[in-house]
Amino acid sequence: MLEFLFRNKKTPRPIFAGLKTDMHCHLLPMVDDGSKGMEESISCLQTMEQLGYRRVYLTPHFQYPRFDNREEDILRLYEDFKQQVSNAGLKIEVAGIGGEYRLDPDFLERKKGTKLLTIGDDNTMDAGYLLVELSLQHKFPGMLDIIRELQQEGYVVVLAHPERYPYLNMGGREIAALKEMGVLLQVNVLSLDGFYGEGVRKKAEYLLTHNYVEMLGSDTHNVLYAQGLVHASNNRKIEKLISNNNFLNIDL
Ligand SMILES: [Fe+2]
Repeated sequence: MLEFLFRNKKTPRPIFAGLKTDMHCHLLPMVDDGSKGMEESISCLQTMEQLGYRRVYLTPHFQYPRFDNREEDILRLYEDFKQQVSNAGLKIEVAGIGGEYRLDPDFLERKKGTKLLTIGDDNTMDAGYLLVELSLQHKFPGMLDIIRELQQEGYVVVLAHPERYPYLNMGGREIAALKEMGVLLQVNVLSLDGFYGEGVRKKAEYLLTHNYVEMLGSDTHNVLYAQGLVHASNNRKIEKLISNNNFLNIDL
């Protein structure tokens, strides 16, 4: 990733103004593998502001056992974070908090009775956009059943970065099944710019050009990702893809 970014340093262009909202980032400090502190989060938000974003939703990892976060702890930290961002005088708004929930065979059992954090409803409704991710290495049987169960509970399930799972074929039956079930797909902006390699870039582009994608996310973890976004903002193809699609980001 580093080599990719330092090959040619770019200046930020506000190509995300049309998108308005970022639906996926890890800028709540010290709760996962994202930002390491307030300074880093503010720096990332400043860059995102320069790139045209007006609102962000925080989506910290809930990934057992690596990041065994509890919803009530995250909500408490969120309130404090929001206050500190507003004190820093940034124009970009921290609009809400969701989570990025890693699904595994025991997910439903572990989260039984827990109100999961969802994007876009400020947690005042019973349901909202539930961002989920899968293992980046192995697929597990029953994945579709777990998603179906979450939908039955009223969650609108959004799958984060489908292009990043090596075992998912973009034209294959799992993606088709997910679409049929009404699962929304969220592609990472950085995937479109080759941040995760050429294979992932191609898969992301395939999804967008086949109109499979409802949302874009930055998945910003730290300043390296923010620099990646600056790089992506100079990619005319991405700019065109954003203006040609009607992503749900705009309405949140
Ligand atoms: Fe993420």
